[in-house]
Amino acid sequence: MEQPKRYLITAALPYANGQKHIGHLAGAYLPADIYVRYLKAQKRDVVFVCGSDEHGTAIPIQATKEGTTARAIIDKYHPLMEQNFKDLGIAFDVYHRTSDPLHHETAQEFFTKLNNNGDLEIKESEQYFDEEANSFLADRYIKGTCPNCSFDSAYGDQCERCGKSLSPDELINPVSTLSGKPPVKKSTKHWYLPLNRHEDFLRKWILEAHANDWRSNVLGQCKSWIDGGLQPRAVTRDLDWGVKVPVADAEGKVLYVWFDAPIGYISATKQWAINTGKDWKPYWEDKDTKLVHFIGKDNIVFHCIIFPVMLQLHGNILPDNVPSNEFMNLEGDKMSTSRNWKLDMQDYINDFINKENGGSQMADVLRYYLTQIAPETKDSEFMWKGFQDANNSELVSIFGNFVNRTFVLMHKLCNGKVPAFHQDIADELDQQTITEIKNCANKVTALLEEYRFREALFEVINLARTGNQYMQKKEPWIVAKSLAENPDAQKSIDNCLHICLQLTANLAILIQPFLPFTAKKMCHMMKVVEKMLDWENAGSMKLLSVGYSLRAPELLFRKIEDSEIMEQIEKL
Ligand code: MF3
Ligand code: ZN
Repeated sequence: MEQPKRYLITAALPYANGQKHIGHLAGAYLPADIYVRYLKAQKRDVVFVCGSDEHGTAIPIQATKEGTTARAIIDKYHPLMEQNFKDLGIAFDVYHRTSDPLHHETAQEFFTKLNNNGDLEIKESEQYFDEEANSFLADRYIKGTCPNCSFDSAYGDQCERCGKSLSPDELINPVSTLSGKPPVKKSTKHWYLPLNRHEDFLRKWILEAHANDWRSNVLGQCKSWIDGGLQPRAVTRDLDWGVKVPVADAEGKVLYVWFDAPIGYISATKQWAINTGKDWKPYWEDKDTKLVHFIGKDNIVFHCIIFPVMLQLHGNILPDNVPSNEFMNLEGDKMSTSRNWKLDMQDYINDFINKENGGSQMADVLRYYLTQIAPETKDSEFMWKGFQDANNSELVSIFGNFVNRTFVLMHKLCNGKVPAFHQDIADELDQQTITEIKNCANKVTALLEEYRFREALFEVINLARTGNQYMQKKEPWIVAKSLAENPDAQKSIDNCLHICLQLTANLAILIQPFLPFTAKKMCHMMKVVEKMLDWENAGSMKLLSVGYSLRAPELLFRKIEDSEIMEQIEKL
């Protein structure tokens, strides 16, 4: 397939209403970051955008909880989330926010264009109104019994127990959360996006054109939405927090958060362009741009159906793929903020990263485990014991151990320099190992292109495993004992360590998208500039030149003790 000219990669804008947990990280931000790092190592033209979603009722609701204003909430959580992402190595090109005036303008322009083109419908309807609070009730302000699972505290937009999305009218015995009283119905005017007009387009674009390259969980959800009959969706709300509806007679109305938030990807790209002196337009208007949205599964309908219709009407490009993940559970139970069953990014950072010197290796450990158990095709399970095992028996015992042995032996048996490779005594095992390095690079590349991150990571670790086995068979430390009587002994040792060192350099390249801090440390040990990590070098056996002297080894990973794991389990 021909390569696109440029890439625009987005990760779902997190609500700035509280700490985000590792389920969020594993669902959208980490896979997006891995993909972007890979593309950048390929020297492709790519912009990675994200930012805080600062509208919707989630914000004022949190403000009430914390006894403060909506503004104070977003100003508290926006910088905190930005820092969390940095600490975990998620390297956005821009981390914007939807409260920014640039975003308000962008979202209003978008709405206005659709409205002027007749792409929206205006309808009067009866909406729930709280007479005591003198206010229309956003979906989130209405609670009632879920028609699907009978949970008695379902919200007007979704049931948190069974996950079904709802409309307030479906709730049994609705009550206003403002006054605790049953709400009344009152007439109000709103703008609607008539999705029903676009069924043909959606069917062709998703169910036909992307039938083979989108994940089956994504296609499945889209199909059931489309088959279920698409309805006009209100894109405005009676609310005082959000982007004002840019029309004369729309007092007290704002754009629905799910209308404005995805436009935040465009505003963020504009901000990036301002920061870097680049042009943002081709990223959203030129067909030769590959747009990819990384999201969790609760965002599928918005990114695959609603936003694409908006983009199409507005004259923008459409996403090429929307790799959405399923959910990640924690120790056998669904992660949930309301029930406080979760591991926040901030808590992990406090306990494992900020506590230690050079603690960013622990950021990589989390990235490793989350990728290994990524819920790419089905829900997965974060287990502290699994986390410990992944670190101790894979990162420490396989990857770290191989790199460390290679460096120690090279210092001991080859004077701390990269030894030559003597073709005259090369054997089949050497050849086989060289071939496996090349094959691994090809496999990892192909898997990353298809967003299959957990398999790609498995292949990288497998290469380290191959390295260990190779060294174990070659036993250079035994060969060294026969140096006096065997004229080929040094040559044999040289060949082994030459291959192990080139394999180490390849590991650094291939692990870089997943474990960027580790790759950086490896570059330091090998005394090479980070340019060596360019993807075009993957598979090469000429990464470290013969005679080049390398630094002493540093431990890449440390063991995680049972006590640390126990402590975390108790915290739950
Ligand atoms: N804030 C939403 C959530 O956390 C995601 C918004 S994604 C965007 O579920 F596209 F709307 F920005
Ligand atoms: Zn339910």
